[in-house]
Amino acid sequence: MGKHLNLPPGLVTLADHGEHARRSLDARTWAYFEGGAADGITLHANRAAWEAIRLRPRVLADLSGFDPRTALLGRAMAAPVLVAPMAHQGLAHPDAERGTALAAAALGVGLVLATQSGTPLEEVARASLPDPDRGPLWFQLYWLGNRAWVRELADRAQRAGYEAIVLTVDAPVQGVRDAERRSGFTLPAGMESPHVPPVARGAKLAALVQQAATWDEVAWLASESTLPVLLKGITHPADAALALEAGAAGIIVSNHGGRVLDTLPATATVLPEIVAAVDGRVPVLVDGGIRRGTDVVKALALGADAVLVGRPVLHGLANAGAAGVAHVLRLLLDEFMAAMALCGKRRVADLRDAGLVEAPSRP
Ligand code: LAC
Repeated sequence: MGKHLNLPPGLVTLADHGEHARRSLDARTWAYFEGGAADGITLHANRAAWEAIRLRPRVLADLSGFDPRTALLGRAMAAPVLVAPMAHQGLAHPDAERGTALAAAALGVGLVLATQSGTPLEEVARASLPDPDRGPLWFQLYWLGNRAWVRELADRAQRAGYEAIVLTVDAPVQGVRDAERRSGFTLPAGMESPHVPPVARGAKLAALVQQAATWDEVAWLASESTLPVLLKGITHPADAALALEAGAAGIIVSNHGGRVLDTLPATATVLPEIVAAVDGRVPVLVDGGIRRGTDVVKALALGADAVLVGRPVLHGLANAGAAGVAHVLRLLLDEFMAAMALCGKRRVADLRDAGLVEAPSRP
């Protein structure tokens, strides 16, 4: 596949894409995309936790009718995988958010567009919606400023064809990101943020904490919005219970890719507690360090309905635009299907099997 995509030869894993992107991207952009908060304890714990889980498959299962497809909130998808919301994709490649959306749709993978997209949400929707094979199309919202702005942005996403709102709840203020600060990263002049209100641009902690959302705002948004509202950034089971009370239509177990509060536990280690608290009432998704098809299998065995993949998508984008994203997603889906079959599972629903994994411990 690589030689038809203008990709360098030898990229056969998501890590290969990461290494190639690291060598080709500007060092400051790399620090911004790749960096974790503070000492990177959580950033590394995410990976370490998936790696530490051992699979315990049964052999000689009947694999006839093998089917990696699934559905979320009523929309079919090729596999239980979505692209995580990520800001400023134009820093990686001129194809930017539109390229990511085209690739995700072509692969039947879901897409979550970030508030801090440089491309207007309508343009991204026009790239995704016509593809009959596309997965879910969701819009990630930051609570910025006030209810009027949030309502306008949510309505705008709904009018454009987005099918759910993903409210990020773990970052009322910026994380302390050492690598990014050391590198001197700043957004290039003229980088558009068409969904960020002027009052929120460059706002400092003292102002942001005054505007920060509470559970009241979540309940308000869930009742106002005609779209389902998922909460992204839940790591405590008590918060998962509050999210359900507030009307959340789904939970994304996330520590923001280790970018916000360092020393949070790895998402793999808190996932089972949250799955237990939610008890099947709404979908539970997980992100943070998903790099292998076996990671997807492990997440589903621990009770997730789907995973989100972040940085590797940016790496593919940096390496070859939309085609690079498609290649990254193809690699992950191929690995996932191989792992699923090797675990003796015919259907995605069958992967929900605590016996398939040895319980994760905290790295
Ligand atoms: C970040 C913000 C944009 O992680 O969500 O960089």
